[in-house]
Parts: sequence; C-alpha cells; structure tokens
Amino acid sequence: MTRSIAHQTVDELGGPGSVLVRQRDDHLERDRLLHELDGTTGVMQERVLRKIDRLVFSHAFAEESVLWPVLRRALPDGEALTLRVEEEHQEVNELVTTLETTPHGDPRRSELLTRLVAVLREDVRDEEDVLFPRLQERVDAAELRRLGRQWELVRRVSPTRPHPTVSRRPPGNALSALPLSVLDRARDLVDAGVQHGPSAVAPAGKAVSHGLAVLAGLVEKLPPARKGDRPPTSR
Ligand SMILES: [Fe+2]
Ligand SMILES: [Fe+2]
Repeated sequence: MTRSIAHQTVDELGGPGSVLVRQRDDHLERDRLLHELDGTTGVMQERVLRKIDRLVFSHAFAEESVLWPVLRRALPDGEALTLRVEEEHQEVNELVTTLETTPHGDPRRSELLTRLVAVLREDVRDEEDVLFPRLQERVDAAELRRLGRQWELVRRVSPTRPHPTVSRRPPGNALSALPLSVLDRARDLVDAGVQHGPSAVAPAGKAVSHGLAVLAGLVEKLPPARKGDRPPTSR
C-alpha cells in the first residue's frame, strides 16, 4: 500500500534535498498563501494572487518538464497519472488568465477564485497522495535527491505567470521556459517598480509591462512552444 508523502518523515522521503521534501515544503507555502487570499479584496487580493502565481507557475513548469517524464517512464500507468495533473495545471493557467481580465466587482470573479483554490488543492492531493508515493516505490533516495536538485534548478529559470497555450509537455514547455521566464521575471521587476516607485514613472512602467506581456504572448504561440502536447491539455 502506498503512503501519502504528507505524513512521512524527512528521512523516509529521502533526506533533505529530496524532491519529495522540496515539493512538500512548497505545497505548505502554497497552502499558507491560499489562506492569506481568503477574504481579501481589491489591491490586497491582487498582491496575494501575484505571490501565488510566482510560487505555483514555476513550480508546475518544472514538474512538467523534469518530473512527469520520469514518472511516465517509471510507471506502467504513468501516462494517465501525469495527464490528470497536467489537466489541473492547464486549468490553473486558464483560470488565472481569465481572472487577469475579469475586473473586481464582476460577479464571475468569486466563482473563478473558488475554482482556482479548489484545483490548486486537488493538485497537491493528487501529487502527495498518489503520484509521489508511486515514484517513491520505483526510485531510491539518491535518485530522489538528484531529481530534487534538477527540479530546483529548472524551477529557478521557469516562468512565473500563466501561459495557457504553451504545451504542458516537453519539448514545447522546455523550449519556451527560458524566454518566457526572462520576460515574466522582467515584468515582475517592472511591476514591483510601478507599485513601490514614484507615481510619475508609473505610466512608463505600465507601458513596459504591457510590452513584455505582448512579447510573452508571441513567444507562447510560436510553433515550438506548442510541441509535445496532446489533447485535451492543448488549446
Ligand atoms: Fe507540486
Ligand atoms: Fe502540480
């Protein structure tokens, strides 16, 4: 019988640095932010949502390009298992994209938020209770630590914003990760400048941020970025 990684000790999970320990820590931080989101409105809600974006998109991008291919090779039912979480990731990409263009005060917003929180929680349960325990049965502690280092490295150069038209599988997501990450992270810096800097530079900052968003939109739609996917996770 498989045991959820939620209730295992660090040693059982392969020691500090194991991909399972790193994943669980990150999922706890996600949970903390979801609680922080609860009951927020307006600017505060936007701020928490951006924190959630920065945490979950790079996290998921690195899973899709580094971890799920390993599961597909290691498990006979890896294809179906990984497709399920890829669909959850895809839905998160779409929900956040829709939320970005749904103004505060629009009644659809609370519905979108409720669904977003639910999918983010489902994703964690599927990974901690099903996918990772199955991976744990197939690979040893040294391999779990190697995967941990790899996932961490890729996560640091992965996009921090939603990209719903990018493939959720290699090679598309791997090829587009770096250019999208550069554009997303540049935009994060510009937006932080707009938020905290003098108001006189805000219009220029907003224009730059918009330009970066347009560029990311173009990269996302290039044919190589869409390669590797299979229905129904592609749009
Ligand atoms: Fe995860
Ligand atoms: Fe995930």
